Amino acid sequence: MTKIKAAITGINGYVPDYILTNKELETIVDTTDEWITTRTGIKERRILKGEGMGTSHLGARAVQGLLEKTNTRPEEIDLLICSTTTPDFVFPASGNIISDMVGLKNAFSYDMQAACSGFLYAMSTGSQFIETGRYKKVVVVGADKMSSIVDYKDRSTCIIFGDGAGAALLEPDTEGYGLMDFVLKSDGSGVNYLVQKAGGSRRPPSIETVTNREHYIYQEGASVFKFAVTNMADVAAEVMERNRLTGDMINWLCPHQANKRIIDATAQRMGIGEEKVMINIHKYGNTTNATLPLALWDYEQMLRKGDNIVFAAFGGGFTWGAAYLKWAYDGDKVSR
Ligand code: UT7
Repeated sequence: MTKIKAAITGINGYVPDYILTNKELETIVDTTDEWITTRTGIKERRILKGEGMGTSHLGARAVQGLLEKTNTRPEEIDLLICSTTTPDFVFPASGNIISDMVGLKNAFSYDMQAACSGFLYAMSTGSQFIETGRYKKVVVVGADKMSSIVDYKDRSTCIIFGDGAGAALLEPDTEGYGLMDFVLKSDGSGVNYLVQKAGGSRRPPSIETVTNREHYIYQEGASVFKFAVTNMADVAAEVMERNRLTGDMINWLCPHQANKRIIDATAQRMGIGEEKVMINIHKYGNTTNATLPLALWDYEQMLRKGDNIVFAAFGGGFTWGAAYLKWAYDGDKVSR
């Protein structure tokens, strides 16, 4: 019997209109366009403005567009997995809200939380439901309104993050395309390096936590940087070795977009040139769960059936991982 793989058969992204440039950040915190560009590679990021709109707004736009692009009726979707670190509410899940917003009447849905590795975790999880033959159409959406937890008084974090969403449709494939392998890792001893200290059950929100600005992202940047560089490169190399892939066999690296220097180090370790690396950090910054699908969406037109894509990500937790996927369609035949 031919083994079923989960292929990505459609990709879509959504970013809000408002562009927060490095120049504007210069007026908010003590920083410069030059520092941000050389230390991170970021030039601008998108911000969701407007009252009463959370991550579900971004996710629903991405999923809506995905259904239209792939000529899929909402009722055909079996499952929606939303990976997010900034859910609309602690509960219910943003995935439930997104499914309601786009009319996925027959789907069950839930959220996954693995910080910046979330999309990789969700894609790997969603694929299992396809590979078992249980479901035929699974939507994986990575979405974050990072601006809702960014401290715009902290120059070392506010320059990094942006808002956005990306969604992929997973369907069964028996012709050798789809998710071939993944390696996922986590280490919760990293909790203190990258954390939103208050707002959860350990430190519920109070006047004190808000006054102390503990409901914002806290990051020990230099330490996280070191962990990210080592682990993202290690796990990408591991997935290559396991699948006997050499640099020349890889068409694309689709890396988490946290810092251009981390991406460069990963590509170097994998032995691939920068022309094969998906980069959009300059436009969107770090959109956490949305970086990987937004990168696929940006590069979709250049992707060809059979392309070997390696994904790599690292995030809070710590969580990290890599995946190897064989792309299933010619991207230039799809209208954006
Ligand atoms: O996506 C999830 C995982 N997250 C990551 O992968 C992020 C990993 N970390 C990073 O990307 C980098 O550590 C940052 C971009 C966050 C910071 O860059 P860095 O080169 O590691 O800077 P640093 O924190 O070591 O700080 C170096 C200096 C400090 O000044 P002093 O103490 O040397 O005088 C900072 O105060 O740079 C200063 N600095 C800034 N200067 C101008 C920090 N942020 C800024 C800023 N503008 N925005």
